[in-house]
Amino acid sequence: MELPNVILLDHPVIQTKLTELRDFTADHRKFRALLDEIAGLMVYEVTRDWPTKPQPVQTPLEKTVGKVLARQVTLVPILRAGLGMADGVLKLLPDARLGHLGVRRNEETLEPMSYYQKLPPDIAQTEVLLIDPMLATGGSGSAAISYLKTAGVVSMKFVCLVAAPEGIAAVHREHPEVPIYTAAIDRQLNEKGYILPGLGDAGDRIFGT
Ligand code: PRP
Ligand code: URA
Repeated sequence: MELPNVILLDHPVIQTKLTELRDFTADHRKFRALLDEIAGLMVYEVTRDWPTKPQPVQTPLEKTVGKVLARQVTLVPILRAGLGMADGVLKLLPDARLGHLGVRRNEETLEPMSYYQKLPPDIAQTEVLLIDPMLATGGSGSAAISYLKTAGVVSMKFVCLVAAPEGIAAVHREHPEVPIYTAAIDRQLNEKGYILPGLGDAGDRIFGT
């Protein structure tokens, strides 16, 4: 089923790595390595429609005009688990700046609690990639997008790894214009707000906590 403004990155290489990542026997070292690789692979599709501008370049043989990204890029991981995707994205977009948004779910109410914000001052003029491996109830993602909008961001994409239908609906109820890129749309949430089948607690698996 196609959902508006949701881009499912079902490339076979991404899916193979995601399946390895879901495996509960993957330890934090393997989990981090796979997440890093998947995040890098996702960048190709996520950035596909970004504008470029002409740039003159002197090759060893002659002058020509190449293309470069037209706008600066800001990567905004939602702490903590979003950090697990940051290096993979930065390998492909090494000039990107990094903002940080600390949001954590209250484990009883599942409501997002914001505890830290640090963004580049000119973020409003940049292309923003908001990254977090898990989109569960959508509370954390929605709160982060609202904060970015308050900071003046107009061009942003939300990049996650595994999304629940409930979370996609919640984010798009508040922010229908923000594209959601995900490698999987899983079945549902359980009574504790975990994604099924999911991959467990992403932060704990990344950091070994
Ligand atoms: C996880 C995950 C998302 C959030 C998703 O973070 O990384 O940020 O849950 O859930 P939601 O869509 O229901 O808001 P968590 O709150 O566990 O914090 P952590 O990354 O610090 O472990
Ligand atoms: N956060 C996670 O890390 N995993 C889930 O399944 C839901 C929220």
